[in-house]
Amino acid sequence: MSIEILVLHGPNLNLLGSREPEVYGRLTLTDINNRLSEQAEAAQASVQYLQSNHEGVLIDAIHDARDWADGILINPGAFTHYSYALRDAIAAVNLPTVEVHLSNIHAREAFRQKSVLAAVCVGQISGFGWRSYSLGLQALLANIEEKRA
Ligand code: DQA
Repeated sequence: MSIEILVLHGPNLNLLGSREPEVYGRLTLTDINNRLSEQAEAAQASVQYLQSNHEGVLIDAIHDARDWADGILINPGAFTHYSYALRDAIAAVNLPTVEVHLSNIHAREAFRQKSVLAAVCVGQISGFGWRSYSLGLQALLANIEEKRA
């Protein structure tokens, strides 16, 4: 049975490539998604992507994932730091979720150093640029596979 993953990108991540490249790198969101698709294919997993600047759209996607996904990889953007609604959605659906960040949020402004989502995620990967997504996907797939074995 192949593994199905929902990849969620939060606000402003549609601007990757041109948005503060010294912080977030020069790859676009499409570049990152393409790399994740290659990685997923090699692992016989499949990935669906959604980017939204709207909290409710992300919450609806998390709810819908109950019906089809085995896990969620999420870069919640700034929602990381204050969205109790996203946190509750992740807790509610009970799907293994990995939180990723391009930048090292713990080395940045004080308001970014706190994640209100991390406690309801399997884990968090932060600071490795686009590779945070790749490492996060690897960890999420391993987590799901281990539970199936
Ligand atoms: C981010 C870090 C957040 O603090 C910021 O608001 C983002 C991107 C990251 O990937 O480093 O939008 O999640």
